[in-house]
Amino acid sequence: MHKNRFSRVGYILAIAGSAIGLGNIWKFPYITGENGGGVFVLVFLITVFTIGMSIFIGEIILGKIAKKDAVSTFEDLAPKGKRHWRYLGFSFLTGIFIMSFYPIVIAWIFHYIYVSISSLPSSLEASEKYFLDYMQTDLLSQILYLSLAFFLIAYTISKGIKKGIEKLNNILMPALFLIFLFMLIYSFTLDGFPKAVEFMFYPDFSKFSTSSIIIAVGHAFFCLSIGMNTILTYSASISDDTNIFKAALFVVIMDVITAIVAGLIIFSIIFTGDAEPGKGAGLVFITLPSIFYNIGTVGVFLAIFFFIALAFAAITSAVSMLEPTVMYLIERRGMKRKKATYLTASISYIFGILALLSLSDEFRQYLTFSSRNLFDWFDFLTSAILMPLGGIFISIYIGFITNKDEIKKVLVAAMGEFLYKVWLFIIKFIAPILIFILMLKEIGVLNF
Ligand code: TRP
Repeated sequence: MHKNRFSRVGYILAIAGSAIGLGNIWKFPYITGENGGGVFVLVFLITVFTIGMSIFIGEIILGKIAKKDAVSTFEDLAPKGKRHWRYLGFSFLTGIFIMSFYPIVIAWIFHYIYVSISSLPSSLEASEKYFLDYMQTDLLSQILYLSLAFFLIAYTISKGIKKGIEKLNNILMPALFLIFLFMLIYSFTLDGFPKAVEFMFYPDFSKFSTSSIIIAVGHAFFCLSIGMNTILTYSASISDDTNIFKAALFVVIMDVITAIVAGLIIFSIIFTGDAEPGKGAGLVFITLPSIFYNIGTVGVFLAIFFFIALAFAAITSAVSMLEPTVMYLIERRGMKRKKATYLTASISYIFGILALLSLSDEFRQYLTFSSRNLFDWFDFLTSAILMPLGGIFISIYIGFITNKDEIKKVLVAAMGEFLYKVWLFIIKFIAPILIFILMLKEIGVLNF
């Protein structure tokens, strides 16, 4: 039991902080660009509100009922004598691997706050050259920013749920929403805005392909932070008066709105500058800065605020990636919070340095395996295999292993009998089967 619980608002901001991150602001716009816009957004939305939200609620309910770390949760709620189900709880280790590449992007964001203040690149070509040079050759600067990111993250976690995590989210999340609101209003005034709306909402079915569906579904998972017991762990500290259905619905809607608003802002700017949307991972670090430059003084301020917002979103997510492991070490291994935090963060930090080196000219050759560098391996392993696997674990555990009396009681009270039945059907059948098929396709076993 935790004496240390979130307040009602604190809890909602914390799970929103976990869900809203680089996935929404950095990744969603560029994969939307690469996959042709409207149809991709449609598939993403459908997945988020069916499977995604169901698993999200599943994690919340397990956390709320057991009120323990993930491993103990899966152990306590298993049938008597079936303690081995606790191993499913370990899917939080995925967080350590996500934390091996995610903070590298935070390091770049920190650097780009500095670039925005000092001097933005003046053309697309200059911008591309600048970013690639920075990533491939400036190791010292990247390592310093990476260390700063890790320090901020670890410091927050070491302060605990209320004084660390809740406090951080209470400040950074409203600030993020405010910045985005201003940027959205600004983008209404841009010539590129109507085109951005059309690009994101007009489904052009000629661009429809199975691989876009897979990316959209995978991204629905990533974007909601599900499949690795993060939401479960935060929900162990939920206050009793929180309606979990309303909380989940609110956060999922905010998550989607942030992704769409990020897309609208970025594409309005991109189309106003007559640039191409399908520019991949470099959209935010290459295309956008050069257009910010062209906007002039206002552009400089936009750039600074944009990268600050991106940093806030990413840090609140990163904090929630390590907390499940930390909570496990505290509750099951008797470690002090501080020690547990620095231990966990150090492991990710070391992997993180290796992933960073794997992008550099100097070390790439030693850190590339089967034509994928370490950075891409961490990204691929977590999103193609580990997170979906965690999603399957949760849905099978709830659907077929644990006793559902208490779950049913709480959920029917929160969302009514009918929605409960829909939820259970998705959790039992739709989610595991669909995720399994998509996983086989992703790792190349199935081809369709
Ligand atoms: N949802 C986060 C984002 O959109 C990324 C993420 C994936 C995550 N899994 C997570 C964050 C687990 C925290 C915990 O950027």
